[in-house]
Amino acid sequence: MPLWRAALPLCLLLAGGQCLGADPLAAEADYPAKGTPEAAVYRGAIVFNHYCALCHGPKAEGNGRAAKLYTPRPANLVTSDKNDQYKELIIRQGGKMVGRSEFMPPWGNELTNEQISDVVVYLHSINVAGGHAK
Ligand code: HEC
Repeated sequence: MPLWRAALPLCLLLAGGQCLGADPLAAEADYPAKGTPEAAVYRGAIVFNHYCALCHGPKAEGNGRAAKLYTPRPANLVTSDKNDQYKELIIRQGGKMVGRSEFMPPWGNELTNEQISDVVVYLHSINVAGGHAK
């Protein structure tokens, strides 16, 4: 969540709508332009934080709060060597359908096509391990 959103209710409480500190309109200018790859990364990060971080960790390093409940552990998505196509497949269908752990849930019925595509773009953007083959 952008800082200004978190700060906004507080601003509204204080001084009858006068915002102290962050200027929400200035911060909003940082939102990537619609239709750009940056916007997809931005949206994908929101999807990731909401649905995936509990297991995969806030930085996608496989160490979320629930990670220790699972063997094998949730994958480190920063160092993952899987390509975008594979990631989309396991995200849609879940681990079990691709012969992996059933604890990687299927998201195909939960997320929209745009959310899935955005989260794949986000994972691509944070990956350092050459899982970049299309
Ligand atoms: C309940 C815990 C849990 C949640 C929530 C979860 N995952 Fe996973 N995920 C796993 C586990 C466990 C594995 C490892 C499966 C294995 O190794 O057999 C995994 C594996 C993966 C992989 C394979 C990566 C690789 O390198 O092989 C991807 C991609 C992935 N998850 C993406 C996601 C995304 C995106 C979300 C959110 C939409 C998500 N996961 C939510 C548990 C979870």
